[in-house]
Amino acid sequence: MAAYQFENHEYDVVVVGAGGAGLRATLGMAEQGLRTACVTKVFPTRSHTVAAQGGIAASLGNMGPDNWQWHMFDTVKGSDWLGDTDAMEYLAREAPKAVYELEHYGVPFSRTEEGRIYQRPFGGHTTEFGEGPPVQRTCAAADRTGHAILHTLYGQSLKNSAEFYIEYFAVDLLMSEDGACTGVVCWKLDDGAIHVFNAKMVVLATGGYGRAYFSATSAHTCTGDGGGMVARAGLPLQDMEFVQFHPTGIYGSGCLITEGARGEGGYLTNSEGERFMERYAPQYKDLAPRDYVSRSMTMEIREGRGVGEHGDHIHLNLSHLPSEALQLRLPGISESARIFAGVDVTRDPIPVLPTVHYNMGGIPTNYWGEVLNPTREDPNAVVPGLMAVGEAGCASVHGANRLGSNSLIDLVVFGRAAAIRAGKVVDADGAVPIAGKSQIDFSLDRLDGLRHADGSMPTADLRLEMQRTMQEDAAVFRTSKTLSDGVGKMKAIAAKMDDLKVTDRSMIWNSDLMETLELANLMPNALATITGAEARTESRGAHAHEDFTARDDENWRVHTIAMVEAGDVTLSYRPVIEEPLTGEDEGGISKKRIAPKERTF
Ligand code: FUM
Repeated sequence: MAAYQFENHEYDVVVVGAGGAGLRATLGMAEQGLRTACVTKVFPTRSHTVAAQGGIAASLGNMGPDNWQWHMFDTVKGSDWLGDTDAMEYLAREAPKAVYELEHYGVPFSRTEEGRIYQRPFGGHTTEFGEGPPVQRTCAAADRTGHAILHTLYGQSLKNSAEFYIEYFAVDLLMSEDGACTGVVCWKLDDGAIHVFNAKMVVLATGGYGRAYFSATSAHTCTGDGGGMVARAGLPLQDMEFVQFHPTGIYGSGCLITEGARGEGGYLTNSEGERFMERYAPQYKDLAPRDYVSRSMTMEIREGRGVGEHGDHIHLNLSHLPSEALQLRLPGISESARIFAGVDVTRDPIPVLPTVHYNMGGIPTNYWGEVLNPTREDPNAVVPGLMAVGEAGCASVHGANRLGSNSLIDLVVFGRAAAIRAGKVVDADGAVPIAGKSQIDFSLDRLDGLRHADGSMPTADLRLEMQRTMQEDAAVFRTSKTLSDGVGKMKAIAAKMDDLKVTDRSMIWNSDLMETLELANLMPNALATITGAEARTESRGAHAHEDFTARDDENWRVHTIAMVEAGDVTLSYRPVIEEPLTGEDEGGISKKRIAPKERTF
């Protein structure tokens, strides 16, 4: 191995990733006086949260009656009864507080006539415990809500003296012999130096792994880096088979058209001009949850009612909306439709297709963001020194299907929760654990091996093989055959990691090496996804199995725990947490109220 010099750093907390969750955690840590570093591979305001459009869910009740119990019920039902009840209660209960905090930090929310935060309807958000009409619960800054939140949180973090290490790529976690996380090894992209961050707490806020698929609304940076690091540290991933397809990615480019477009009155039509969602979801129609709408669109296309030359997509209609509403509430998507589909939304429908958008699964955590390493004796055992928040983590509030706008609220509620918890468990006066040479060498050996990889397979070619396989074999609808074929193909693809060819050997702005490290992270995420999907012989939320079409609560109301090692995936299962944090007598919601039942809309 070439000799690598490295610079050592010592912090109370190191946050990896500067999206909404990473910045909210960073800010919360720094506000309490913890010495906090945030390490990020892209400039903070370029993190993928910047692309979040429609809004952030919280039962503020600004547009009509609402309360956190209804929000919690919708989240439980949206998750198809796979979410952990304590985490779902925490999310819904803390959401208004977290949004008002954002407002006070300076997020420029859109406003009602009375000056309150504007809220729009989103799929699956209802009133009266799913019996009443849709509710306007999604707080919006036009259709650029993520952008507004990200800029505000970055400014506030700087104000509170958090230290940023920008364009540093996290290579591996530092794990002690007794299983605690003690830091992270990073590669500084612009000068090639290695930096070792020793810390009392590492928070993974690295986002999802949408780029395991061929067509995704996710940025090219969404490569599951946290999941990759965790798998290499011998820790598990949870519920990876649940991959959300957003109903309205622009046909061809995959660029997101916010669900807010339907919230503001847009609707889907097939080749016969029919508003087909009325047939599939008579009560909530185009505002049914995403898994429902994506499946309905796919069925229309399969049955020959798709639009376009090849009958392979669907139309989203907005031209009936007043042009002032489009300008005020949906300016961003009007522009995206023009640029990426050549469509003037005031006249023509947008061609759309369900597109990979979000990973419900991730690194298992409790609702404080502490990473879990479940054992048979203790399914909720915590890994000391390690947290995961945002899309990288799986608390699990989204279960088998996430409701639109529950992602941004997940980022800030659990980013904030991680900071609250760290304030209790991190001893600011204690010594920072310093990694030993062997811990650091594990990471540097791997980096060096990939840097000098001299096989026959370029990284981009292998990545494409993986993306096409995942797209074809772990799609909106899955069958036993596609999944078992897919597992076989993915194992063969993963084995080719040993035959990679990296052509650039430098350490400075080496995008070939960085994409190779990213592929090494995507691979365990993809393997866990397709293997978990093959094993789950039921349909639930986003996992629509055509050979097992019913939900099977008796056997499958459990979280999948996947250990990925050298291309092999070992599965076990962890019980869903069914107990809410508070009972009805304490103002909470009774267990009976949220007991599993048929999920119709
Ligand atoms: O449709 C959207 O604006 C996306 C929101 C979300 O994924 O929560």
